[in-house]
Amino acid sequence: MTETAWPWSRAVVVGASSGIGEAMARQLATRGCRVALVARREDRLATIRDDINRDRDAGSAEIFVHDVRDTEAVESLFQEIATMLGGLDLVVYASGIMPRVRPDEYPTDRDIETIEVNFGGAVAWLNQAAMRFERAGAGTIVGVSSVAGDRGRRRNPVYNATKAGLNTYLDALRNRLAIKGVTVLSARPGYVRTALIEGLKLPRFVPVPEAPLVATQILDAAALGQRVVYVPSWLRWVMLLVRAIPAPIFERLNF
Ligand SMILES: NC(=O)c1ccc[n+]([C@@H]2O[C@H](COP(=O)([O-])OP(=O)(O)OC[C@H]3O[C@@H](n4cnc5c(N)ncnc54)[C@H](OP(=O)(O)O)[C@@H]3O)[C@@H](O)[C@H]2O)c1
Repeated sequence: MTETAWPWSRAVVVGASSGIGEAMARQLATRGCRVALVARREDRLATIRDDINRDRDAGSAEIFVHDVRDTEAVESLFQEIATMLGGLDLVVYASGIMPRVRPDEYPTDRDIETIEVNFGGAVAWLNQAAMRFERAGAGTIVGVSSVAGDRGRRRNPVYNATKAGLNTYLDALRNRLAIKGVTVLSARPGYVRTALIEGLKLPRFVPVPEAPLVATQILDAAALGQRVVYVPSWLRWVMLLVRAIPAPIFERLNF
């Protein structure tokens, strides 16, 4: 099968220290991109940077230690990265947390942290990307959201809500920016084998993809100018069905 061409040469990946973000950063570099890796864990970022920079055929990587809850720091860090890369073509927001919540638990402190990381940080970073790309009349924004945003479910109400908020925010950005030549992709994976879901009981007969496969499918969709991508793609139809289930029935499903 032929590889989809990726048009980017300078990218930022926020949440690049593990999982899907790490896989996206490594793949972008393998295809010659200069990548800024952003997250909190410096040791992990440094290992990924060193791997990338050791490969002579790959692009290059720089690391930026940052907690996305520190939204005041974003504007200057964004400018620093854009200057260091000599421009920007792609901004990926992949940072996310999913604290475990018992069915009878309403943990406001963990919920607020989830809102700050999954949604507040996304807004701070992607607002910067939107302003820059709108001025340039070009660029690609990718938000790593989730199928969890398609409907509020029992298990983790605030995780669901942050992803629904992120989906709506990305839709709204696209409605502003599409006519200005900017691509905005809302990526909605199902379960992916990463640290985020460690210890969770997973559905037995559903295959759970590894992060590199999911990363490739998201970046391919962005390169093709798609608006929304479900990964795996058949989840689009499952979620269409899930959204169509009448509320009185949905309330009774342990879903
Ligand atoms: N795995 C799944 O089943 C699944 C399914 C659907 C959607 N997603 C979404 O995919 C995205 C990536 O998750 P993943 O599965 O790849 O999990 P992961 O391996 O745990 O990666 C999470 C990333 O978020 C970063 N992060 C967390 N808190 C942060 C903070 N305060 N500041 C900066 N960065 C922070 C982490 O970096 P540091 O800890 O180093 O800061 C890490 O790079 C998330 O948005 C998640 O919601 C995952």
